[in-house]
Amino acid sequence: MDKTKRLANGIEMPRLGLGVWRVEETDATNSVKWAIENGYHLIDTAAIYKNETGVGKGIAQSGIKRENLFVTTKLWNADQGYETAHQAFNDSLERLGLDYVDLYLIHWPVEGKFNDSWRAMEEIYASGRAKAIGVSNFHQHHIEELMTTAKIKPMVDQIELHPTLTQENLREYLAKEGIAVEAWSPLGQGKILQNPTLTEIGKKHKKSAAQVIIRWHLQSDIIVIPKSVHEERIKENFDVFDFELSEDEMKQIDHLNINERLGADPDNFNF
Ligand SMILES: NC(=O)c1ccc[n+]([C@@H]2O[C@H](COP(=O)([O-])OP(=O)(O)OC[C@H]3O[C@@H](n4cnc5c(N)ncnc54)[C@H](OP(=O)(O)O)[C@@H]3O)[C@@H](O)[C@H]2O)c1
Repeated sequence: MDKTKRLANGIEMPRLGLGVWRVEETDATNSVKWAIENGYHLIDTAAIYKNETGVGKGIAQSGIKRENLFVTTKLWNADQGYETAHQAFNDSLERLGLDYVDLYLIHWPVEGKFNDSWRAMEEIYASGRAKAIGVSNFHQHHIEELMTTAKIKPMVDQIELHPTLTQENLREYLAKEGIAVEAWSPLGQGKILQNPTLTEIGKKHKKSAAQVIIRWHLQSDIIVIPKSVHEERIKENFDVFDFELSEDEMKQIDHLNINERLGADPDNFNF
């Protein structure tokens, strides 16, 4: 399996990375360092996580060459709008200690604002300070609304996606549009790791339920960013390139879907 996915603009994005939501600044530094030491090239943060400085320190301390790393951050809801998006992006870069990010995402579809935010993001992309731009938590209708004014189609949609929320229809639409799908809370925030279907499949392959889920994402052409603050788990979550789920096992996992959202519905959020 290729370890990267080619985005619509030709940029190669690693298919497996580290997420750092709900990770304190100092823990973020360590997690990022451990991840990079164990082969990760993709780090997913956001302004609202309040750990971009810690992430930047981890990157600097890891000694990895900048061009070998893929860093994502996101525009927070309160900063949406044309000028505020430009300012928020500059602030994120400064906190990260970087002169570009690889992917900049609109974090949530704030109605009445995201088209203006996108105009700023298109300019940021044109300036080369974001190598790719995309959205997060956008349903099909949000993307359609964005495209009424956009010049550039989002390259990625990062959405809540795990075996109990498989989002088949949205994934089909995104695939048709050439927009890469990235899963957030890919392990169901750790809540589905005791599921017997997953643990049984894991036993057959001598892998954990977490590894089975990550492999299911990868084989479903989904970019995946599991979060952990523990070195052993960070390592474990990357050790998924030496086994393959059968078609039947993939189907068994697909069938765990119960449309269960752990986070807010993008049509109904109040933050
Ligand atoms: N765009 C958005 O709106 C949005 C929303 C939510 C998340 N995200 C992104 O997606 C990333 C991942 O989602 P998430 O953090 O919500 O949840 P997740 O990755 O689905 O699950 C993380 C939880 O699973 C545990 N865990 C990780 N690996 C494990 C393993 N091998 N064995 C047992 N437990 C394990 C972690 O605990 P420990 O840390 O204690 O190991 C943590 O409690 C976030 O960090 C963030 O970057 C984006």
